This record gives sequence, structure tokens and C-alpha cells, in this order.
Amino acid sequence: MKRLLVLAAAATAIFAHAQTFPGSKPISIVVPFAAGGPTDRVARDLAEAMRKSMGGGANFVVENVNGAGGTIGATKVARAAPDGHTLLLHHIGMASAPSLYRKLAYKPLEDFEYLGMINEVPMTLIGKPQLPANNYRDFENYIRANAGKLNIAHAGLGSASHLCGLMWQSAIKANDAMTTIPFSGTAPAMNALVGGQVDLMCDQTTNTTGQIEAGRVKAFAVTTAKSLSGNKLLKDYPSLQEMGLKGFDLTIWHGLYAPKGTPPAVIAQINNALKVALKDPEFIKKQEGLGAVVVTDKRVEPAAHKAFVTAEISKLKPVIEAAGKFAD
Ligand code: MLT
Repeated sequence: MKRLLVLAAAATAIFAHAQTFPGSKPISIVVPFAAGGPTDRVARDLAEAMRKSMGGGANFVVENVNGAGGTIGATKVARAAPDGHTLLLHHIGMASAPSLYRKLAYKPLEDFEYLGMINEVPMTLIGKPQLPANNYRDFENYIRANAGKLNIAHAGLGSASHLCGLMWQSAIKANDAMTTIPFSGTAPAMNALVGGQVDLMCDQTTNTTGQIEAGRVKAFAVTTAKSLSGNKLLKDYPSLQEMGLKGFDLTIWHGLYAPKGTPPAVIAQINNALKVALKDPEFIKKQEGLGAVVVTDKRVEPAAHKAFVTAEISKLKPVIEAAGKFAD
């Protein structure tokens, strides 16, 4: 009888909490990379759209917890209270980390509730303005001719920029041709590239479009299977596959997550608000203006989102093992 009363009390508390969510307490969206970068950009645009879709009461704040290629921010959310007030906005790093980190502090498929996918973003291979090449062929030849003398920036082991660099170097069989330089995100890495302190980087169009348009960096190729004919700025850059890198196809996706054990009613409330936000014309305009595509298919649903990440983990494992470089 006593046990039943305790269970009833607990259920009432959870139900009461779900009824009152989000209440006045802010909802923190943890971004595992530096402010000003592509993932931070998605989070701030989404927070704006979800403030509206959740009904003015909800107060979303973006919290940058960066380091170790995104795994520090993800660990923070995996260990946070499952009350809906701490969420994670993360990208393909969710799927690459289990293969790159042999001692990962969380299990992507077990320690999180999946809240739905957000967008897909192509990447661009870019170089500092002084780099003596103006097309991909000359660029690749320059890399080969200067093996060991150049460096490539990224946002930490397990980040999207790191994964792209790893896959590209492996594809052109130039694994050790460049020194890799880690940053806390591609925002600070981009500053170093524009300043000529680093030579090249592979980064999401949401962070490169403005720099390419302004001529502050050189672009050489895109990482999607085909060139981006629909993108006014990037349509003339070839895809790496069109440059002969067979099967090279990398698009960065972002999704939203909560700690495992977050009440189903809260998950449903956040997922509903997310789905409305993904249809917000202002949000879509901002994303598409930077080359991103907002997800509209079944992956906006938690189950399909999780199924997609599960498939990505298996897809990336052999790619990362082939490169033979682990983060720990
Ligand atoms: C960022 O927001 O800095 C990027 O997503 C980092 C990366 O993964 O390349």
C-alpha cells in the first residue's frame, strides 16, 4: 500500500510537471561548439522560431559548452536533469563520436531522447585568400606539392569540419600531408583562416557563404554528391565527386535531443513546437539563405530521427576506421 502511494505521488509529480512545462524556468539549448559558428547559428535561429511556436511563455537560451569535438557539451546534457529544461542541439558529431572516441562518456542511442531533426547543410572546401590556387585541380596539386608544409583547421576531433578533413585527405590519399589545427568551433577557425594564420578548412555553408561572397576566403569544392546548382553563390563550384573522388558525399545534419527519461508529455510538447518552428517562413528563409535545407520528412518525428542517427553511426564507422585516426 505504502509503495503504491509513493508511485502514485511520483506519477502525480511527473504529470503535474508535464502539465506546467515549460513554466518560467528558461529552456537551455546546449550548443557543443563556440558562439558564432554554424551550429550556434542554427540554434539561435531555431530558439527564435521556437519561442514563437511554443507560445511566448517559453524562454529559450543558447548555451555554448564547447570542446573535444562536441563531446563535452553532449556529455553535459546526457547527465542533466530530464525535465525538458536542458536540450542539446548537435550535428553529425552525434554519429561520428562513437567510432572516433573509444572511451566516450555517453551512449548516443541510450542516453538521450530524440526530439526531431532540424536541417541538412552542405560543406565547402575553402582556403586562405593568399593560397595560390583558383580551382580545385590546382588546389589539390598544390596540396600534393607541399605535403607536410600546410595545415588544415577544424573544430576538434569528432567535429564536422574534422570529419570532412579526415574523409577528404583519405580520399585523395594524402592522410599525413597536412598538420591539423583544432579550435573550439569553426567561428574562431574561420577568423584564423581569413587572417591567413591557417591554410585551409572544410566547413558548413552556413558559416562559409558570407566569407566566400565577401572574397575573404577562396572556395574550391562542395562535399555533396552533386554541385549545388540551385545555390546562386556556390553553383559554379564542383562537387568532390565530380572532381573524381568516387562516392564522396558528406552533408551535415542537425537534430535536437533531451536527457534520457524526459517525460513523454514534455517530449511531445517540444517536438510539436519544433515541427511548427521548422515551418516558420522566417526560419526557413534564414536557413536557405545560407545553403541549408530544413528537414520536412518523417525525420522530424523522434522515432525516425533516432532511426536515421542509428544508420549514420553504422555508415560512418567504416569510414572513420579506414582513416585509422582515433580521438583517444
Ligand atoms: C561549429 O558550429 O563550430 C561547427 O559545427 C563545428 C564543426 O563541427 O565543424
